[in-house]
Amino acid sequence: MQPYFIAPSILSADFARLGEDVDKVLAAGADVVHFDVMDNHYVPNLTIGPMVCSALRKYGVTAPIDVHLMVQPVDRIIGDFIEAGASYITFHPEASAHVDRSLQLIKDGGCKAGLVFNPATSLDALKYVMDKVDMILLMSVNPGFGGQKFIPSTLDKLREARALISASGRDIRLEVDGGVNLHNIRAIAEAGADTFVAGSAIFNAPDYAEVIAQMRAELAQ
Ligand code: DX5
Ligand code: ZN
Repeated sequence: MQPYFIAPSILSADFARLGEDVDKVLAAGADVVHFDVMDNHYVPNLTIGPMVCSALRKYGVTAPIDVHLMVQPVDRIIGDFIEAGASYITFHPEASAHVDRSLQLIKDGGCKAGLVFNPATSLDALKYVMDKVDMILLMSVNPGFGGQKFIPSTLDKLREARALISASGRDIRLEVDGGVNLHNIRAIAEAGADTFVAGSAIFNAPDYAEVIAQMRAELAQ
């Protein structure tokens, strides 16, 4: 198992002071910046695009940026995020007409590629592309909004995904996104996750460093 990554979702950050808030959460011990891209088409909400990713890089953010695409179509925005300094780019297989091509576009751009699975979507799409995937992201809420409740069936699905990763023998991160908090992070890790997206649980806390330290303490038990 790889070391645990805490990936705050900036969907819950202060957008009017985004650079400062991202610096603050990284200084508080976060490993990765989770960047939610919503298009009001694939999901019923509208957020941020490549210009904001590029602005964070220009501002001086050097941590990995984990771009979670909730957009359709997928391919035409991939190049823009590669240019903008993304580190990981993940997308939902049902949002791409040609999943293998989209993964290859990401990899050709030098980024790490991943597939995202909604709570009711099976992991079947992984079968023929495990060799191209660097990350598997399981949604533990229906995508579109922060602050929702963790869907418990994700735990079984995490075990299923972890078994697929072990069988592949490849170095693939297993990320979970939605409703992750101090009370459930340990059970989520025990089910096989190594990368934890948390938006409201971190950005709504009065002290980012304290909540991240508490999460790490839960993971260390
Ligand atoms: C939901 C997004 C999540 C969201 C998580 O569609 O993909 O990344 O920000 O927020 P919390 O941690 O509040 O559930
Ligand atoms: Zn996300």
